[in-house]
Amino acid sequence: MSPIRKHKRDFRRSSDLSADDVAAVFELTAQFKSALSRGEPTPVLKGKSLAMIFEKPSLRTRSTFDLGMVQLGGHAVYFSPQEIGLGQRESVRDVGKNLERWFDLGVARTNRQSTLDELADNCAIPIVNALSDEEHPCQAMADIFTLQEQLGSAAGCRVTYIGDGNNICRSLIVLGAKVGLRLTVCSPKGYEPEFASSNGIEEDLKRSKGSLRICNDPSEAVKDAQAIYTDVWTSMGQEDEAELRRKVFRDYQVNAALVAKAPQGVLVMHDLPAHRGEEITDEILDGESCIAYDQAENRLHVQKGILAFLDKESG
Ligand code: CP
Ligand code: NVA
Repeated sequence: MSPIRKHKRDFRRSSDLSADDVAAVFELTAQFKSALSRGEPTPVLKGKSLAMIFEKPSLRTRSTFDLGMVQLGGHAVYFSPQEIGLGQRESVRDVGKNLERWFDLGVARTNRQSTLDELADNCAIPIVNALSDEEHPCQAMADIFTLQEQLGSAAGCRVTYIGDGNNICRSLIVLGAKVGLRLTVCSPKGYEPEFASSNGIEEDLKRSKGSLRICNDPSEAVKDAQAIYTDVWTSMGQEDEAELRRKVFRDYQVNAALVAKAPQGVLVMHDLPAHRGEEITDEILDGESCIAYDQAENRLHVQKGILAFLDKESG
């Protein structure tokens, strides 16, 4: 049995990490990535265990947390959407009160952010957001780490996000402000990102010298971009709106014509899974400027950094 922790750090949302915390996670990430490439073990979570609770499907998040935990000397146990029945078979509170008795860390992919918050409030182990309706902070951390690798630094880097102002977009905004991204978000009217002013974005932008611009014209939005980022028009749970969204977002596809309006050498990013032929064409996703699979690889390294950081920071 794991001893109950006296205090803990969660990563429920992007605002839970300060700019210094992000830098510390990236430092660990770089160490783990380089050690793995040399075949050197990094058993910093030796004997520790991770509970992985998923209310929605996943390829990348599930694989990378599981493998990451094993590579850090621990192990992970996966609970599928049907298995626990969060809030149905058993209250979210009781799930949390049980998990803390056996596990050292937890990740949760929930339909609603409020479920993740309730779980974290009722569980003495660090809980990581593995995607909710509001945020996907682990993805945004991997994206920013990837940009750093590609462009030398994320600070001052001009990124244009084209599409839905969704969970991915919100996490990029909050974490981007911490590291100094110059972020343009381009969405159809009515689909722009909504985010709370309480999460420190303005203060972070001032300190990091980053910027945030929201607009509606894709051609204008990509003009100065060093990277163009897109995500699905219909996120998991919004399937009923898919037909409507295909119409609303039609002019927001990342295709050869749009990429040609950006400076030469522009990078293309996607968190995956992609709906090929909707938000991005095959030609662009399979093209040389696309770094989507680098982003996917870095999920592994960055999440190892996140787990090791939260474990160290928790008593
Ligand atoms: N990008 C991402 O989170 O992928 P999965 O939904 O497959 O985990
Ligand atoms: N916005 C997408 C991201 C998937 C990783 C969704 O929520 O389905």
